[in-house]
Amino acid sequence: MFISFEGIDGSGKSTQARALAHALREDGHDVVSTREPGGSDGAEEIRALVLQGDPERWSAETELLLFTAARRDHLERLITPALARGQTVICDRFADSTRMYQGLSRGDLRTKVDALHEMMIGREPDLTFLIDIDPGLGLARAKGRNGTEERFEDFGITLQQAMRAGFLALAGDFPHRIQVIDGARAPEQIAADILARARLALARHNSTPPPAEVPT
Ligand code: ADP
Ligand code: TYD
Repeated sequence: MFISFEGIDGSGKSTQARALAHALREDGHDVVSTREPGGSDGAEEIRALVLQGDPERWSAETELLLFTAARRDHLERLITPALARGQTVICDRFADSTRMYQGLSRGDLRTKVDALHEMMIGREPDLTFLIDIDPGLGLARAKGRNGTEERFEDFGITLQQAMRAGFLALAGDFPHRIQVIDGARAPEQIAADILARARLALARHNSTPPPAEVPT
């Protein structure tokens, strides 16, 4: 099963992805933890290109291509083989982030984002946890980390508000895949909520027989 975490910067995705991986391993699942942009050697190199340095370095379109190239490599090298081996993949951000960040942040590129996704990626996670918090809280948390990858956090509160609304709209578009999680609670409380939901989804996923082969 392929599980992703989404939400604005500082919403608690990494914290919760880590907690879920740990809890599912305790349950006996074979879990692969990964993240985007990155997750494979080539995609990690692209991560440095898009998240560090001058924000004006890439046009909006070039940036979209770089994120998509990173995702394609990550899928080919890590995600698809892990799923084929029967492992559970937990990914911190996936294509919903591109729909929001590249789709919204530098002009309306959503049509191009969707077209490129269909052509080059062509798959969604089985389950997505959208951690929803007030952007003021997210920004305060993200700033507290003091990293070198400030690129998108630097866009400020107005953009993060648009992202939050966009993510919630996306949850409406994909109601069977995306579960909205209240991220304003204590980390342990959020983790327990997510674990209960993941266990349920995994039980369902594992009891569903693979589609019957169509005779040729
Ligand atoms: P994201 O991956 O969404 O950017 P992180 O998991 O890195 O978010 O969390 C951002 C910061 O907020 C970290 O310093 C983390 O320790 C803290 N944090 C995460 N979840 C919570 C929470 N529920 N309450 C308070 N602080 C949190
Ligand atoms: P991440 O390390 O998850 O940042 P954070 O922990 O602050 O949420 O992601 C790095 C940044 O990359 C984040 O600001 C969102 C951005 N991003 C995109 O713009 N497009 C994408 O497709 C992905 C996966 C991330």
